[in-house]
Amino acid sequence: MLSTEKKHELAGLAAKMRERSYVPYSHYAVGAALLTKDGKIYTGCNIENAAYPVTVCAERTAIFKAVSEGDKSFEAIAVSTEDGLGYPCGSCRQVMAEFSMDMEIFLTDGSGRVTVETNIAELLPGAFTPERLLER
Ligand code: THU
Repeated sequence: MLSTEKKHELAGLAAKMRERSYVPYSHYAVGAALLTKDGKIYTGCNIENAAYPVTVCAERTAIFKAVSEGDKSFEAIAVSTEDGLGYPCGSCRQVMAEFSMDMEIFLTDGSGRVTVETNIAELLPGAFTPERLLER
C-alpha cells in the first residue's frame, strides 16, 4: 500500500500535468503520474492528433516514457481529469497489465484531490497477460 503522502504527491503531479495536455479537438485534458517500484516518478499527458486515432492517452505517455528509460515495474499511477472520474480506457488498462498486474490506480480531480482508489486487477479482471505467451 502506498503511503498517504506519496499518494497525494502523485495526485498533485497528475493534476498539474493536465496543463501540458495537447487537446485541441476534445478539450478533455488528462494528466498522469506513475510511480515505479524503485521510487521514480514519470509524468504524462494526453497528446491528440489531427488524425484522431494517433492520439496517445496520458497514462500511456507516462508508461512509455518509463519503459523507454528502462523502468518496467510500477507501484501506482494517478490519473487526473477535471471531475476526477476519468477512468483509464481499455487500451491503457491493457498496457498497465502488461507490466504490473498489481499496480494501484488513483483518480484525481483537477485540483489533485483523490476521488477513487482502485487497482488494475479490479479494472481488468481476467486480463490477457505476458505469462500466456511466455510460459507455454
Ligand atoms: N484519454 C486519456 O488521456 N486517458 C484515458 O484513459 C481516456 C482518454 C484522452 C484521449 C483523448 O485525448 C481524450 O482523452 C478524449 O478521448
